[in-house]
Amino acid sequence: MSLAAGGTTGDVQARLDLAGKHIVLGLSGGIACYKAADFARELVKAGATVQVVMTEAAERFITAVTLQALSLRPVFTNQWDARAPNNMAHINLTREAAAVVIVPASADFLAKLAQGRADDLLSLLCLARPAERCPLLVAPAMNREMWAHPATQRNLARVRADGATVLGPGSGDQACGETGDGRMLEPAELLADLVASFQPKTLRGKTLLITAGPTFEPIDPVRGLTNRSSGKMGFAIARAAAEAGAAVTLIAGPVHEASPRGVRRIDVGTAQQMFDAVLALAASHDVFVATAAVADWRPAMCTEHKLKKTGDPKLPSIELTENPDILATVARLPNRPYCVGFAAESHDLLKHAREKRARKNVPLIVANFGPATFSRDDNVLTLVDASGERELPRADKLTLARQLVAEIAARLSAAAA
Ligand code: CTP
Repeated sequence: MSLAAGGTTGDVQARLDLAGKHIVLGLSGGIACYKAADFARELVKAGATVQVVMTEAAERFITAVTLQALSLRPVFTNQWDARAPNNMAHINLTREAAAVVIVPASADFLAKLAQGRADDLLSLLCLARPAERCPLLVAPAMNREMWAHPATQRNLARVRADGATVLGPGSGDQACGETGDGRMLEPAELLADLVASFQPKTLRGKTLLITAGPTFEPIDPVRGLTNRSSGKMGFAIARAAAEAGAAVTLIAGPVHEASPRGVRRIDVGTAQQMFDAVLALAASHDVFVATAAVADWRPAMCTEHKLKKTGDPKLPSIELTENPDILATVARLPNRPYCVGFAAESHDLLKHAREKRARKNVPLIVANFGPATFSRDDNVLTLVDASGERELPRADKLTLARQLVAEIAARLSAAAA
């Protein structure tokens, strides 16, 4: 049985990424303010310090008392606040901030941002922030008609062009009873997008295809051959590549991992299904990363009905046939993407990894000890390429995935130069 990359990463990661960061959390008016309270709590739990600033309209929906209790700091609500010795809250508040995040951003507040207006503390500090080191993120929340209105879309395009990152919005049931676009993202989604915003966009404009998890080869309708791969490493790489700005397609075997934000996912069962899904897409992608633990063999026949015990002392035998090698096939395409393979071994790691690199004709193989990494949240990787080997020391899988993505991006740039 073939066992490639195992592994995973949960959102313990937000804690690693946001610990010690100072975030200005701005609330403009809208019913989604109730979600901002939860988001403030998530930020604090992740170890960030949070300074809440509310507009007058936001205070109609939720009190500053609630936000102070959750953020553990007094809330700022107006530009004439005399607490700052220099009486310049609009300047002071962003000077130490890693980001200003507007949750929710109302249609009116987006209009203000688009025009560069500054008649209340929140819009004032957005304008006065040091834009090169303090990015602005906005999470729109409004009724679908307001969202679709050309004026809102015009304002949004302007705000984007001025450098802001727009988070969402999502689609679905709205507080007004209607259904459509304009629903604010959930706190966990906002947190993932904020974390992603701090990652360098080394794969912007690139497309990446990735396989992850085990495959399942049916013997009969209830049984099958599979392996212990959790898909965690592959999902972490998909997330890291999306964070780096790539358009990511993830072909996943049967796993229990949640899809990373912004990643297109195609679920498959068998190696043949994974092969078909990959081959349909590989040539149109810039990078192919094969982390899946593809079953090397499948039962030659899958019976229609469940195999039953018959009392016959002669046990049933299962004839196997070989599955196609997905990575090797992609690497043979005339217009092949940049191919990265994984090798999960139980012994002679580097010897096997070098052999696999040559046999599958891929520029980069990532070697790891299979039994030591399956289902774990950390790992040690060794990059094996034409020039030799380099170890990425033990770390959580998302950290390793980000290092691997940086390596891939550097190799693509070198190849293009
Ligand atoms: N792989 C693949 N299709 C297969 C088998 C493997 O795409 N049918 C890919 C894996 O996703 C991994 C690499 O090939 O990137 C190496 O997989 P591995 O299972 O370690 O190697 P095998 O070629 O299966 O060799 P062996 O099982 O003998 O170690």
